[in-house]
Parts: sequence; structure tokens; C-alpha cells
Amino acid sequence: MAVQVADVDMPEMELDPTTWKEQRQALLKLINSGDWIARTPLGYVITRYDDATAMLRDDRWYSAIGLIADMQGYDHPDFRRRSGRNILAMEGEEHHRIRRLVGPAFTPKSAERLRPFMAEVINELLDPVCARGSAEFVSEVCEPYPIPIICEMLGAPREDWKLFGRLATDIFRIFNGNLHRDGPVIVAAQDEMETYMTALIAERRTSPRDDLLTDLIAAEEEGDRLTTEEMLSLANSLLLAGTDTTRNQLACAVALFCQHPDQLRRIADDPSLAPGAVEEVMRYLGAIRGTARFASEPIIYRDIEFPPDTFIFPSLVGANYDDEKFAEPTDFDITRRSGTPHMTFGSGIHYCLGAFLARAELQESFKAIATRMPDLRFDGEVKWKPLSDGIWGPTSLPIRFTPGH
Ligand code: HEM
Repeated sequence: MAVQVADVDMPEMELDPTTWKEQRQALLKLINSGDWIARTPLGYVITRYDDATAMLRDDRWYSAIGLIADMQGYDHPDFRRRSGRNILAMEGEEHHRIRRLVGPAFTPKSAERLRPFMAEVINELLDPVCARGSAEFVSEVCEPYPIPIICEMLGAPREDWKLFGRLATDIFRIFNGNLHRDGPVIVAAQDEMETYMTALIAERRTSPRDDLLTDLIAAEEEGDRLTTEEMLSLANSLLLAGTDTTRNQLACAVALFCQHPDQLRRIADDPSLAPGAVEEVMRYLGAIRGTARFASEPIIYRDIEFPPDTFIFPSLVGANYDDEKFAEPTDFDITRRSGTPHMTFGSGIHYCLGAFLARAELQESFKAIATRMPDLRFDGEVKWKPLSDGIWGPTSLPIRFTPGH
């Protein structure tokens, strides 16, 4: 007979660590004591790789992202309609259908198609920085990097990069925790994006190209196709899921390379190490620290019953430092061969749809940084977002290096 989770004797998770090392330490302490679950005032943190994976693969645990409006009592009809259609918030057959239809468009091949463009964008951003030999890397490189790539993916021309940047900034206010204040700006940006994308989709229907939008229009499974409305939702989700993640992950990487210049030099000497370096950076200092699910029905796991609406927080940091999967987990080694994938792209049905794209974006940027920024080092204090932010990384990263490359 299963025990109710509320009655289980388990440790409390220490809350509000101020640094990522403190956060990691708190998780390592639990893992080393054999605790796979810990209590917080809002729900339960899942600390270990196998448990986090098992729970994320069980689709009775629903994504909590669709609850943002409910939790803040915000009921703008357009906002609610769009939130419900965000792929990250969908569940069950509705979600499976969308993944089946769009999945084939997000292959390694579609990421490869964009690779030369990615290299061009990162090098263009690095040109002025490398001429100077110093930068505030977050605002000068990380912030602008992903927007042209999402635009290219969707087929929006260069003159609209600025527009997309502005719309992304406004739409990101969703995560600022004050929908009553920010709602009208968010909805206006979503309206503008929808009008823009509707015209682009109509154009692609008549003149197909070799791009993702054309692939999505053509996507079909047994006679089923995406509606225009579904494509609009997907474009909105891609902007939300693919922009801030990539820019924060890149900033985390550069902060880490400033602390481990030897590892960056190895990439300069041998660029074929870049893919392994991306995996290790994402394991060691992931821009997404954890995710959240709630029980859609009573769920029994490891003889514990979780009643409906119980929240769990699978810790991606805990999973990435689980020594059953990663030997000497606190060592940063870009040539690590663990055979286990890191968890920073999540796991299960909501596993990152843009993982191949994100990997290619980071690989191209690592190669450019390694060759063009020799002797990279900090040039002042790195400032970080609060660890409670859903997408985390430095807010300011002053760097210095020998110019002219
Ligand atoms: C380094 C950069 C990235 C990281 C760390 C990242 C991480 C993640 C994670 C952890 C999830 C699952 C969230 C959960 O289960 O609660 C996710 C989902 C998703 N990601 Fe990414 N992501 C990145 C880049 C991208 C890019 C570039 C795109 C697309 C252009 C993208 C599109 C998506 C989408 C559409 C989903 C939702 C999938 C679904 O719900 O079925 N991501 N991502």
C-alpha cells in the first residue's frame, strides 16, 4: 500500500541559494545522503537522474507552464487562448499530434542547413568586439545572437530582425510575474507577431522555399496537417522557447570558459571538440536549472502516492551532477565521455524540440570564440540573474582578451 507523499519522512530542501555553487552544493548534499526527493513549501524537488527522467517520461505529470495565468488570476481571453495552445502547455493526444507533425521538421538536417548562417551571424557580432579586445558580452553578443536565427528559420528577412527582437522582449514579459501590469503589452506583441506570421505563411504557401516554415506547411501525417492557427502558435512557442534559452546558455558558457581558459584553448587547437564542449557546458552550467509538473490524477511512484495537483520540481542540476551517471561530476571536462546525455534539454514528451538547433548555434559560437578570443578572461564582476528565474544566466559579463583576431 502506497504512502501519501505528505506523510513521507524526507528532508526539506534549503531554499534561496544565492550562487549556483550553493545551489549545486545543496543538491549534492541530498544526493550523497541517498535522498531522491525533498520537500519545499510549493512541492517536491526530485534530485536524481533516473527519478527525474522517469517522472518526466510519465505523461500523467502535466507541465506547469500553462498555469502562469491561473496562478496570477489573469483572464484576458486572447492571452488564455494562446497560452493553452503553447506546445509546452499542451498535454495528451493534442500534444502528441503536434509533436508527430512538427517533429520531422526539427531534424539534425534542418539544423545543418542553418549552420553556415549561424557562423556568419556570430562572426558578425564578434567583429567589433574582437577589434576592441573587450566587451560586455551579454548585451553585445548573447542578446542579439538568437534572433536572426529564429528569423532565418521562419523565413523573416534581415530588415525584420529588429522587429522580432522587440516583439520577443515584449512577449518575454510573460515571465516577469506581473501579468496584470504587462498583459496588454504582451497581447499587443502577440497580435503583431500573428499578423506578420499570417502574411509570411500565406506567401510560403504560394512560393515554397528550402526553410522550416515551408517544411511545417508541408508537414503531414496520414492526411492530417497543421492549421494556420497551429503554425502561428508554434512560431510564438519557438520565439519563446528558442531565444532566451540560447542567449543565456551562451553567456553561461563564456563565464565558464573565463574560469577554464585551458579548455577553450583546446577547442581553438581542435574545433572537432566543440560538440563535446557544448554537452559538457550544458551539463555543468545549464541555463535551465529545473522544471515543474503537477499531478493530473493520483500517481503512485516508488510506493508513494502523489494526489492530484501535487507539484514536483525535477532538478536538472541534480540530474546533471548525479554521480551514478557522471563520474567526478564537479570536474569540468569538455572531453568527458559519460555515455549519458545531460538533462538541460529536459526529458520525455516535452524534450526540447530545438535541441539540434541549439547545439549547432552553440557549437558555431564556441568555435568562433575559441579562435577569435585568445586569453579570454573576466574584466570585472559577473552579475547573475536570481536562480529562481526559469531561464538563468549572467545579466552582465565583462570580458577582455587580445584584440585583432
Ligand atoms: C541552449 C538552449 C536551449 C535550452 C537549454 C532548452 C531547454 C529546453 C527544455 C529544458 C525544455 C523542456 C521544458 C520542460 O520539460 O518543462 C525545452 C522545450 C522546448 N524547446 Fe528548448 N531549449 C533550448 C533551445 C531551444 C531552441 C533553439 C528552440 C527552437 C528554436 C527550442 C524550442 C523548444 C520547444 C518548442 C520546446 C517545447 C517542446 C514541447 O513542449 O513539446 N529550444 N527546451
